[in-house]
Amino acid sequence: MQLPSAVLLAASALPLVAQVRYLPERKLWVLQTPHTSYILGVNEQNEIQNLYWGKKLPRDADLAPAHTARDYAFESPEGMTNEEYPGWGGMRYTEPCLKVTLSDGVRDLVLKYASHRTAGDMLEIRLKDIRYELYVTLRYELYPGSDVLRKQTVIENRTGASLVVESAQSGVWYVPSGGGYRLSYLTGRWGGETQLTREPVQPGRKVLESRRGNTSHQANPWFALDYQGAASEEHGKVWCGALGWSGNWKLTVEQTPNQQVRVTGGYNDFDFGYLLKPGEMLETPSFYGSFTDQGFGEASRILHAFEREHLLPDRRQPHPRPVLYNSWEATTFHVNEAGQKELAAKAARIGVELFVMDDGWFGKRNDDHAGLGDWYVNPQKFPNGLGDLIRYVNGLGMKFGLWVEPEMVNPDSDLYRQHPDWAIHFPGRPRTEGRHQLILNLARNDVKEHIFSVVDKLLTENHIEFLKWDMNRHFTEPGWPEVPAAEQKRIWVKYVTNVYEIIDRLRAGHPGLEIESCSGGGGRVDPEILRRVDQVWTSDNTEAFDRLRIQEGFGFAYTPKVMMDWVTDVPNMNGRSTTLKYRFLVAMMGSLGIGANLNHWSSEDFALAAKMVAYYKEIRHSVQEGRLYRLFSPREGELTANEYVSTDGKQAVLFAFLHSQQFLRPAPTIYLRGLEESGVYRLKALDDKLVDRVETVSGAYLMNHGLNLRLGGDYDSTSVLMERAE
Ligand code: DGJ
Repeated sequence: MQLPSAVLLAASALPLVAQVRYLPERKLWVLQTPHTSYILGVNEQNEIQNLYWGKKLPRDADLAPAHTARDYAFESPEGMTNEEYPGWGGMRYTEPCLKVTLSDGVRDLVLKYASHRTAGDMLEIRLKDIRYELYVTLRYELYPGSDVLRKQTVIENRTGASLVVESAQSGVWYVPSGGGYRLSYLTGRWGGETQLTREPVQPGRKVLESRRGNTSHQANPWFALDYQGAASEEHGKVWCGALGWSGNWKLTVEQTPNQQVRVTGGYNDFDFGYLLKPGEMLETPSFYGSFTDQGFGEASRILHAFEREHLLPDRRQPHPRPVLYNSWEATTFHVNEAGQKELAAKAARIGVELFVMDDGWFGKRNDDHAGLGDWYVNPQKFPNGLGDLIRYVNGLGMKFGLWVEPEMVNPDSDLYRQHPDWAIHFPGRPRTEGRHQLILNLARNDVKEHIFSVVDKLLTENHIEFLKWDMNRHFTEPGWPEVPAAEQKRIWVKYVTNVYEIIDRLRAGHPGLEIESCSGGGGRVDPEILRRVDQVWTSDNTEAFDRLRIQEGFGFAYTPKVMMDWVTDVPNMNGRSTTLKYRFLVAMMGSLGIGANLNHWSSEDFALAAKMVAYYKEIRHSVQEGRLYRLFSPREGELTANEYVSTDGKQAVLFAFLHSQQFLRPAPTIYLRGLEESGVYRLKALDDKLVDRVETVSGAYLMNHGLNLRLGGDYDSTSVLMERAE
């Protein structure tokens, strides 16, 4: 029978619907995203079991109820099933989601189903301990059009006495049973963030974590699992997760003796010991997960779109990230009104839209030994305050942005001399300095209010439209002597939630304000900070060839829209030199910025920069909002190539970089992806590096015949623009 077209339309629209359903006769919850299903059930013991996470199961009749497993001498039924949120109690030996010590010394927690409610795209399941009035609410959220699912829990103490939460995880993700999984994850260091590592999942546990008080450069809370290590960029099953927490976090990747791979994530339980008083609740971070059977490329694209459409502050009214200039590498701390104006005038000439003055403008800040905490404009450097400079920058058609590092204090500052107790410390113990600075204890209410009012005042008195919010050291000696000893460990959570609160209040009070999250580079990048900042500083390492690896890893988890990349001078950081064109093309694969000393540029440099900025403005909607295809990885060979396709499919842009050529080998053919086979595209090569003498070609040609590029020598680069002609 031929279906009427309206029915066909409705049916084809269906897969985009995300929904939560309860099947009461089978006690099952079915959470469905456009392409995936996540299924939970209540078993005979009233435990919540995870039954499935993977490609969509469209037929409810296929789904069987949860049931308890048989027990063996050394394995409990609970240990044999995939418990959705196991407390540490009974015969459970895998990583628990919740571990507590109750006021009477009991350390046994057995959580059973109590109730549930669904509301739109939300599901809440309430669990309760078998004896104590300790409740846990499991929250699930789905998002229209997205294959991402959010988990979060709320732990509620109604026991009438204080208890200590020793581990509070947001949840656990289970993949289908069996060994042979491969783990992908991101680690690094300062100047070398987000390096992708891959390894087989082995029996036992692998812990990825931060114990540093913020997200950290050393590891990022993202993971991917693929089956039998068989997934590629375009094919294969990939389960992906990311934890939204800008403090101490932990991901435990575990393969149990029963060959079950599971990933638990939440607050790091190291030095946790969170005192939960009667009536109090503790909310865990959001833990996001997604599945695709179309490889790592699609896994990243799902996350990118989710971040843009559901996390970023401009999610309701997306707008392009502006081309930015930042003064840091040009001037370091030696900023002054005349010097900044000179740079601003030059930046405007090449098409910069946002001029950011970095460190050095405040207090007695002439190097990194002094000044943090004293957020008044330095009168020697800026005798007219910031007003003249801002007006000048605005007059050139650019917005003005300012660097701040509000969480920090130098011992050599008026603030520290007045309030030495405001720094995080243990009384009578050394205060370890990092970059000659200490961290203000933002967990304290008075300190939080002070920081808020200082930044609020700056924003109220000056026309500042952008803040680069920096944090240049990690926690040490995490004491909070003003509260009773039993409460001090709450600092790990309270500090971070107060940073979030300050930023939220500043944004609410100053609509239009945009913020970049920086922590000496990419030390504070995670899904929760992305809810309140518009972009992030990817790395202090701005050397373009190193950047290819850093940016590639970053892109596995985070959208290029938030990835701030600067073009800087050479030789940089590691002594390497590349051409200005190469540096531009690398930086154009995210949000473009320029951090070079424009006073040293020749007229040819300015001409090239103006051309590249104009090119970027032509393609930035594809780069920032489009679909990223990683064609050649810098980890794997001599060539790196990335392609970005605009959401409407009308534009695609290719970037290609040859690392070095040996033996006169030609660069390999590049097969484009994500195009319309029958569409016709007009090619515009940035330079003369396109071997193929074609001007308009079909998507089929580009994806099957591919493009050949004339790249040679060391660090060659090019770009090709493809515009849909038919
Ligand atoms: C660290 C940042 O990552 C740099 O870009 C710069 O802002 C310096 N701090 C300033 O001190």
